[in-house]
Amino acid sequence: MDVLQYKSDPTMDDISPPLFSSCRPNIELCRVEMLHVPWNPADVNVVQGRYPRINQPDDNDNNNINTNISRHFPPGRIAGSEGWGRVVELGQYHCHNVHAIEPGSLVTLGVSGWGTMRSSLWIPTKDLLTVPSALYDQLGPAGCTLFQLGGTAIRMLTDFMAHSSSLSLSLGNEVVIQNAGNSGVGLMTSQLAKTKLLGNVGSVVSLVRRGSKSLPEMKELEEYLMQVGKCDLVVIEEDLLQDQQAVKTLQQQLRDLSSTHQLAKLALNAVGGPSAQLLLKLLEPGGTMVTYGGMSGQGVSVGTPQLIFQDLHVVGYWHSRWMKQHPVHEKQQMIDTLAKAVLDGLVTLPPVQVFPLQDFQQGLKWQSNQSNATIRSKLVWDCQE
Ligand SMILES: NC(=O)c1ccc[n+]([C@@H]2O[C@H](COP(=O)([O-])OP(=O)(O)OC[C@H]3O[C@@H](n4cnc5c(N)ncnc54)[C@H](OP(=O)(O)O)[C@@H]3O)[C@@H](O)[C@H]2O)c1
Repeated sequence: MDVLQYKSDPTMDDISPPLFSSCRPNIELCRVEMLHVPWNPADVNVVQGRYPRINQPDDNDNNNINTNISRHFPPGRIAGSEGWGRVVELGQYHCHNVHAIEPGSLVTLGVSGWGTMRSSLWIPTKDLLTVPSALYDQLGPAGCTLFQLGGTAIRMLTDFMAHSSSLSLSLGNEVVIQNAGNSGVGLMTSQLAKTKLLGNVGSVVSLVRRGSKSLPEMKELEEYLMQVGKCDLVVIEEDLLQDQQAVKTLQQQLRDLSSTHQLAKLALNAVGGPSAQLLLKLLEPGGTMVTYGGMSGQGVSVGTPQLIFQDLHVVGYWHSRWMKQHPVHEKQQMIDTLAKAVLDGLVTLPPVQVFPLQDFQQGLKWQSNQSNATIRSKLVWDCQE
């Protein structure tokens, strides 16, 4: 069996080559041959030893979430937090009909922390969610990126308007503003907000970094995010950070997009630092900013008046925790919604670049150049032997 393991605090060169190890069937476990596994920013943090773990297969006390999240991955763990594969074998005492899992089922994981970057793993049936095979036929390897990107987007769009106490509880024709609009989660958020599958329709305004991109490259990115991403507006972050007048102009554009002529009611922050402060200036009083990533490595700073007088709500979201805390049927419903959105042509996933697990060094080198790419692609590992 191929496995990609890592040492504590490694550099890129320290990641061990695939190892062989043996697995045995166990009670109510089934064997999944992994097909494809995306490489997400959190996987980098896990390998760096900077990401808390929520669950490990050998945790004795799986119910004690606080104990689990306070520990970090010890050295020698297997990388990979999600992905999809096919069930090839059911364990000896497998409970039939609990979960419609059978040999040949295409599945993804219902909990994180399993270490998916390997060709094969034994896993409790209850920790698997089924995926329609049509998704694989339609998308190929790219389909494996759907669950965490789309799941995070769905949850943030549907679960957080309730925090906006003095505001209406549905997106209606309200405005959502996000940074890292060209990220995988950002692309899913702007598209899912436009589907009727979530029972609401909102406008999404995306902020993106110019970085070293040329004018034509920025134009291409903007067109991509408007057409494929279905954003209502794409704004270059650096222009706002340098110019108060540009912020005022954007505030007016947000009011024009809103059916109630208000600023954004929901802001989604994957960056932190000045970018998050910018989002707070674009929120309607009583609105909510959900922080789900910290790509800049900088913290989130909130002005005291923003909390007291504007009643802004500043909260966080962690998809692993949501997956840990919710029952299988709710998670399966979310997967079904995402699969339907893709199969109905409502949502397009980010492009992917596939590398065999054995070529991990080439894959990681390719990944490190993605900030220069006009349209970001996701790195996907092909785990098949
Ligand atoms: N909380 C959760 O449960 C959860 C779930 C999924 C994802 N996430 C987080 O969501 C974020 C996006 O994930 P993803 O998989 O969608 O990412 P992705 O597709 O790899 O995109 C990364 C994004 O981060 C931006 N970025 C990279 N370095 C940056 C920096 N130094 N300063 C500012 N922006 C930077 C990139 O912009 P450029 O193209 O300009 O570099 C791009 O927009 C990550 O922080 C990830 O950890 C959280």
